[in-house]
Amino acid sequence: MRTKFSLAKPIIQAPMAGVTTPAFVAACSEAGALGSIGAGYLNGEETQHFIQQVKALTDKPFSVNLFIQEEPRIDINVLQKARGALQPIYEELGIPDTQRVVSTEVFEGQVQAIIDEGVKIVSFTFGLPAAEMIARLKDEDVYLIGTATTVEEAIAVQQAGLNAVVVQGSEAGGHRGSFTESIELNTTAELVAAVKGKVTIPVIAAGGIMTKAHAEHMFSLGADYVQIGTALLTSFECEASNAHKQAVLNSEQQSTTLTKAFTGKYARGLKNKFTEQLQDAVVAPYPIQHYLTLHIRKESVLQNKPEYLSLWMGENSYLAKEASVQEIIDSFI
Ligand SMILES: Cc1cc2nc3c(=O)[nH]c(=O)nc-3n(C[C@H](O)[C@H](O)[C@H](O)COP(=O)(O)O)c2cc1C
Repeated sequence: MRTKFSLAKPIIQAPMAGVTTPAFVAACSEAGALGSIGAGYLNGEETQHFIQQVKALTDKPFSVNLFIQEEPRIDINVLQKARGALQPIYEELGIPDTQRVVSTEVFEGQVQAIIDEGVKIVSFTFGLPAAEMIARLKDEDVYLIGTATTVEEAIAVQQAGLNAVVVQGSEAGGHRGSFTESIELNTTAELVAAVKGKVTIPVIAAGGIMTKAHAEHMFSLGADYVQIGTALLTSFECEASNAHKQAVLNSEQQSTTLTKAFTGKYARGLKNKFTEQLQDAVVAPYPIQHYLTLHIRKESVLQNKPEYLSLWMGENSYLAKEASVQEIIDSFI
């Protein structure tokens, strides 16, 4: 069952919710890679509008990435402790404590937008869609990609009937797509090598791939595609904030950390005052912690306080360079 999708170059622009814009996604597709819309934080209507904007800019293939929604488990004691740990920062920024803690159900609207707009490649992170959802998308001839951080998760992605799997190593920037209790930290190379013998679907390597040598190493281990996030964050076309781009460009080896403090799920980003201050604090489960810290992150942008921002980037961010999307993508092949 090895069916790949065809691309001019075996490169996928990592979906990056909150960072990707239509022009950036289209530029990646135009450069021969697979552009990917990070739709995780968009509702159905916003997802549809975004897709329409990309379609207006390119006729090359692109994908949409969705978050598998979780029912938050609310333990009032944990919630109070998590709020307490954030209180000094709310006070410093002069913002009220956040009351809204439950995410709205948007998944159905996002999927409808994908079907209505005829998008043919969809990827998921944080879990597996329900069997009925998989069947519905497959009926529409949509190619489905899951995300795994362990061999066990990669096998589960294949068993659920998805067409390909992103194997995301511990170097990866942003959230880990884990959906089992496991906190195993495998490097991308270890994971690609281990997963290759266990699944027959195409394998997409993600995490720390910043150079041609990194990509070639992944292909030599059997990866079918490489997925690039951080290396594209500093492209001219990427509209990540200036603070984010500068943080990537100024980062050094060992500048990043894995933290649950921003959202309740492990994610890799720049070590800063926020990650250090919350290092041993009680953190609410995802997505509650995401809502508890949302105002902090928005206000920190306005007050120009990058020390409280989630500046997602991979472990090899120190190798990032400023260039056009085309130059960055060409540099891998
Ligand atoms: C800023 C940022 C946002 C991200 N957002 C998402 C997302 O919305 N969905 C997703 O599946 N992965 C997301 N990721 C993870 C990427 O898909 C990918 O695994 C990672 O970027 C690969 O590692 P690298 O950054 O070292 O290239 C994000 C990564 C970054 C850096």
